[in-house]
Amino acid sequence: MVRFVLNGSDHETEVVSPSVSMLEYIRCELGLTGTKEGCAEGDCGACTIVRVVDGVFEAVNACLMQVGQADGSEIITVEGLEKINGGALVPVQSAMASGGGTQCGFCTPGFIGALFALEQSEEKISDDAIHDALAGNLCRCTGYRPIVDAARDACKKFVEYKPRPPKARESLHKNDAGVFHAPETLSELVTLRNELPEAMLLSGGTDLGLSISKGRHQPKTVIHTAHVKELQEIVETDDAIVFGAAVSYTRALPYLDSLFPSFAETIRRIGSRQIRNLGTLGGNIGTASPIGDTLPSFIALDAALTLASTSEERELDIEQFFLDYRRTDLRPSEVIRSIRIPKLTDNQIFRSYKVSKRYDQDISSVIGAFRLTLDRAVVTDARIAFGGMAATPKRGAAMETVLVGQKWSERAVFNAAAAAHKEYQPISDHRATSKYRSMVAANLVTRLYRDVEGVETNLNVMKI
Ligand SMILES: Cc1cc2nc3c(=O)[nH]c(=O)nc-3n(C[C@H](O)[C@H](O)[C@H](O)COP(=O)(O)OP(=O)(O)OC[C@H]3O[C@@H](n4cnc5c(N)ncnc54)[C@H](O)[C@@H]3O)c2cc1C
Ligand code: FES
Ligand code: FES
Repeated sequence: MVRFVLNGSDHETEVVSPSVSMLEYIRCELGLTGTKEGCAEGDCGACTIVRVVDGVFEAVNACLMQVGQADGSEIITVEGLEKINGGALVPVQSAMASGGGTQCGFCTPGFIGALFALEQSEEKISDDAIHDALAGNLCRCTGYRPIVDAARDACKKFVEYKPRPPKARESLHKNDAGVFHAPETLSELVTLRNELPEAMLLSGGTDLGLSISKGRHQPKTVIHTAHVKELQEIVETDDAIVFGAAVSYTRALPYLDSLFPSFAETIRRIGSRQIRNLGTLGGNIGTASPIGDTLPSFIALDAALTLASTSEERELDIEQFFLDYRRTDLRPSEVIRSIRIPKLTDNQIFRSYKVSKRYDQDISSVIGAFRLTLDRAVVTDARIAFGGMAATPKRGAAMETVLVGQKWSERAVFNAAAAAHKEYQPISDHRATSKYRSMVAANLVTRLYRDVEGVETNLNVMKI
């Protein structure tokens, strides 16, 4: 039985089939049709609901979530807001109505969900925060100015809502249509993995949810990693930070902000806030996409994975994990336990750059990451990795060779940029041509110098 608080009341259900999304469940089974379906793939935000876990309010895409993922949490849909506010509209709703923030209304419940989560968070409300919170919500008729105005207005009038204490979670949900395992320890997780190698290993579901909502993959059995305490750990030592595989982007961000700000900036451009609340570091690694946004940074930062099974734990340089297009070194009985990233030393520089057609909510055409070690202005070590340039995220060995031993100068960087052209043979697809990708990769090497040396400040068109 899956138990959660729904719009302020206890709720339980036996619907655990992985093929029924949370969106389908609340609309079709419960008749809560305020939440809409637009794209069913995490792009439009029409399905945004609020999930409260351990007192933290997060906007999430119901179209990507399985019902089992709600176990032990509180779910708030647009229908619940009035109810939990003693029968009155919450300020976000009033401001959208009175400020002309809605026309046909199709997108409005999603905007309300995203803004209610923002208003209830501890985040300082600023225009940047509002834009970030709304980047995953599309409106085709109103235009965004009145919506942003309504957000500014509403977020000044905070309504305190105390979430209900969570229901106890269960580690097994089962009915005729499917089985949803939610283990709580690593030992339980690897035992299940060993016994059920065909089961879907589900973390945040932002990749897997898509294959289910589009009917490509209908697994009967799911093993959900989100409640495994070892996979949720974040451990910082003097020389490294270790993230459990099930740590979401949102939880990782404050740590990355302080240790690798450029990496954090790249992560802020992964999907939308709804996606980053669900999506995890381990899921990005497990997907092994050649354009996974974290992967070049992990490689350039010399990160190592810990892979766990019932028989052993092994460490592997993340670079060696990616064998071929979406093929990895993960054995059928293994799970990714954690990723360890060495901290930068005083003489190291790190940058990552994502290039995509749109700034927000877009997949990379090319992504480059660079870690350089300098000793008295000479490059003594270079780790460069690119995504979007090969079948896997890939080291730029020729560029590194050109740079190492050279004085850190524009000339050295131009030589490395020339090597980028020879190093990769990228493909052309609907995101970018091969020629464009090669040119961008070379330009990013030049950009590194101009950025680090402050030669040019106008590097990011969004920040003009
Ligand atoms: C609208 C939208 C926008 C997106 N934008 C971006 C983007 O800009 N950049 C980007 O890189 N990605 C993007 N993604 C893809 C996705 O959000 C990320 O890849 C995310 O990190 C996946 O994490 P998850 O927890 O949701 O993974 P899941 O979907 O749960 O799992 C993904 C894969 O990883 C495996 N896996 C998960 N955990 C483990 C583990 N512990 N051990 C072994 N295997 C595991 C799963 O079995 C599955 O094969 C986007 C997705 C959507 C829907
Ligand atoms: S329906 Fe578009 S994001 Fe879920
Ligand atoms: S009001 Fe019509 S889509 Fe936003």
